[in-house]
Formats: sequence, C-alpha cells, structure tokens
Amino acid sequence: MNNNALVIRGGRPLRGAVGIQGAKNSVLPILAATVMGGGEQVVRRCPQLSDVESTFHILRYLGCRVRREGDAVAVDPRPMDRCDVPDRLMREMRSSVVFLGAILTRSGEACMSFPGGCELGPRPIDLHLSALRALGAEIFETGGNLICRGHHMVGREVNLTFPSVGATENIMLAACGASGVTRITNAAREPEIEDLQHFLRAMGARVEGAGSSTVVIEGGYALHAAEHAILPDRIAAATYLAAGAAAGGTVTVEDVCPEHLSTVTSILAEAGCEVRAGHTHITLHRDTPLRAVRPVRTMPYPGFPTDAQSPLMAVAAHAEGTSVFVENIFENRFRHVGELARMGADIKVAGRVAVVCGVPRLYGAHVRATDLRGGAALLVAALSAEGESRLTGLRHLDRGYEAPEQRLAALGADIRRVEEPDAGAGGSVRRAAGGACD
Ligand code: EPZ
Repeated sequence: MNNNALVIRGGRPLRGAVGIQGAKNSVLPILAATVMGGGEQVVRRCPQLSDVESTFHILRYLGCRVRREGDAVAVDPRPMDRCDVPDRLMREMRSSVVFLGAILTRSGEACMSFPGGCELGPRPIDLHLSALRALGAEIFETGGNLICRGHHMVGREVNLTFPSVGATENIMLAACGASGVTRITNAAREPEIEDLQHFLRAMGARVEGAGSSTVVIEGGYALHAAEHAILPDRIAAATYLAAGAAAGGTVTVEDVCPEHLSTVTSILAEAGCEVRAGHTHITLHRDTPLRAVRPVRTMPYPGFPTDAQSPLMAVAAHAEGTSVFVENIFENRFRHVGELARMGADIKVAGRVAVVCGVPRLYGAHVRATDLRGGAALLVAALSAEGESRLTGLRHLDRGYEAPEQRLAALGADIRRVEEPDAGAGGSVRRAAGGACD
C-alpha cells in the first residue's frame, strides 16, 4: 500500500522548463504489441510509471524477457510460452485488455479475466469483443474470464459505433494476425493510435490511415525486431501547463507536439494565460487574474481530451466567473469535485455537467486522489492554494505521472513526498471492483 503523501505549500508562481515523459497511453499498447515481434524490440522514451511496471509484469508472466536501460526498454518475446493473463495482473491495470489482440496474433489463442470497471465507471469492452468476433475470433465469456481462439482470423471491414481508443488498438493488433485486409471505420483518431501504427510499421506490419477515422491493416506478414521512441505525453504536458496557469508565472513544457494539445492551450489562453507554441515546446505565462472560460465539452480526439478535464477544472475553480464542463466520454469523471470542495472550490455537478463558480482563492487541505487525473487536478489546485495541502492516494498519480514532485520542484514549487503514518485498514481506499482506471 502506497502510504506516501505529497506536501505542497501553494501560492508561489512557477518558473522554468519541464521535460515531458513518453506517453502512458501510447507505451501501453506498444508494449503489448511487442509480443507479436520475431526479435528483440527496443522502446525508447518509456516513462517510469506503475502502469508500465504492470505491463512488464504481464510480459514477464507470458515468458518474455524485459529489461530496462534508462528510458529505453528491451522486450524479447521469443521465449514467450503462455497466452493467458491472470486476474491478479488484469486487476493491476484494466487496459491490459489490449493484450488480447496482440496475444491472439502471436499465439492464436488468449485467455484473460474480464477487465471489469474502475473509478471512472463500468468501462465495457463490448466494442473490442464484437470487432474481434467479426474477424473470426471465437470468444467465450465464462465465470469472469475471456477464452479466445483466433487461429484463422480473416480481415474484413469493422465499424466502431464509438471511436473507442482501446478497441481501435485491439483491432489493429489482431488484424496483424488476420489474413487479408481489415478496414476499421469510425476509428479513434488519437495521436497514440498513430504512434502504434509507427511501431507496427517498424515491425514490418502493413498499416495505414491511423490518425484518421479509417485505419487499414493488411495482415499475415511476419513481424520482426524494431526500435521506436514513444511520442510525448500530451496529457502530462497539459497538466504542467495547467499547473503554471493555476499558480501563475512562466512554465515551458519541452519535447512536446504542440498540435496534440491545441484544444487545451486555447482554453488556457481564454482563461487569461499567454501561450506561445514553438516547434517542440509550449510556453505559458500568467500574471493577471484567471478568467472563466466558455463551456468545455470533452470529445474524442481532436476534441477536448477527457483526461485534461479535471486539471483544467482545477484552474477554473479560482477564476473570475463561472465555467461549465461537460464530460461526454466517461460516466463518472467528476469524483475530484468533492476533494476540490475541501479546498474551497464551489462546483455543482448534475450528471455529466459540472458548473464551476470561480472563488477568489483556494485553501490548502488534506485531500485524497480519487483516480489518476482527479489526483492531477488536486495537485494543480494545491499549487495555487493558500497554505499547505497534503495529497494522498498517490498510487493513482504514480500510474500516469513520472516523478511529478521532482518536475514541479524544478519549477520552484514547494513540494515534497513524505511517508504517511499507516492509515490502517479504515483509512485505505478500497479500489472499485475491477482494475485501476487507465
Ligand atoms: C483510453 O481509454 C485511455 N487509456 C484513457 O486514458 C482515455 O481517457 C480514453 O482512451 C479516451 O481518450 C489508455 O489509453 C490506456 P475508450 P479507453 O475505449 O481505451 C466506452 C487516462 O487517464 N466504450 O475510448 O478505455 C467507454 O465506456 C486514461 O490516461 C464502450 O462503451 O477509452 C467510454 O465511455 C483514462 N465499449 C468511452 O467508450 C467499449 O468496448 C471511451 O472509451 C469500449 C469503450
């Protein structure tokens, strides 16, 4: 049990530059894809995250050799001798469901426990399963397990009724093992999908169209060793910019793709920040009061990203005026609101709508992360709050942010990680049935 806490004394402007980690939501499907290769895969810019460690646990369980050298990870799938992912590993991270397509391509069969829901809601995988069945996979759901056989998958057109990121990735991976051409229509367009395509192509796969709504995969090609550098984490970049907006000062995020977070930077500009984007960096400056912003509606890419909703809400919480956030992607992604209220925020939630009435200032408090991005929101709020905050529930934050306290301290924040006295059974936060949100 991670009993650490972050102690933050807020109210200090931030100044400086922060290097951005490789994208969590890109490295996870790419590490899953390594099992399909015929040689050692090298993945560079692999962030140090607990979700990445969970993926290593699965790769090693399957029999792959995994070794990290700094920010590069080498995965040799040749010794792989299993095709199942046990419940204990699935519960560490529910997005491990993306291993399904990769293991089917590698082994022709796969078995894993049903990923289940998490703090964000039920997290169904019906789109994944119906698409894989359309390719000819036989999938039996028995007693909370998925038993899959896909020795003779055949490519075909697969339409997604919703541009699901995970389903798009799972189909791309399974289609590599299907004979013929698979055409995914209404595919997710997130940059992480393009990154997966880059990696698959480096392995020798025939994939095109990622980043658009139609992705085409010609399967049946033997895949070989490859090297790949993970693209920058646009949500981590958005989070550090939100920290600069909330605390004030001047923050530069480096080694990023500015176009991947343009919907976020336009909202921050509307909130009164000066935002300048270069080729691979973004600088945000704020020294005037924050202003309320026009309604923020989360949408599939290229719309406003759901993962940036809570950090941006922490900025709006102490802006002049009222802002509205509409969460269209997940059912239960306002769990951070109660914790922000402990810091003095005035936010009303009705279903998928949160009405944020800006308050002159937030106050430090003991707050607990409810999920990964909810924890990021509390961190952003604590940096702007008057007084000291104590943020616990860091197991959520450590899933998606690499060394946040080091990066923020380098920007001048008064922040340190301390050991919390053991909260005991009563104080621990039981994880919702199923895995961690991801
Ligand atoms: C990915 O989750 C990301 N996770 C999420 O990031 C991100 O918020 C999400 O995409 C949306 O961008 C990873 O990449 C590991 P979806 P994923 O399938 O693939 C419904 C973070 O904080 N749906 O696009 O699970 C689903 O319930 C995490 O980094 C179905 O109904 O997202 C949700 O409402 C959180 N049936 C919506 O679609 C399905 O079969 C979006 O889900 C699949 C999804």
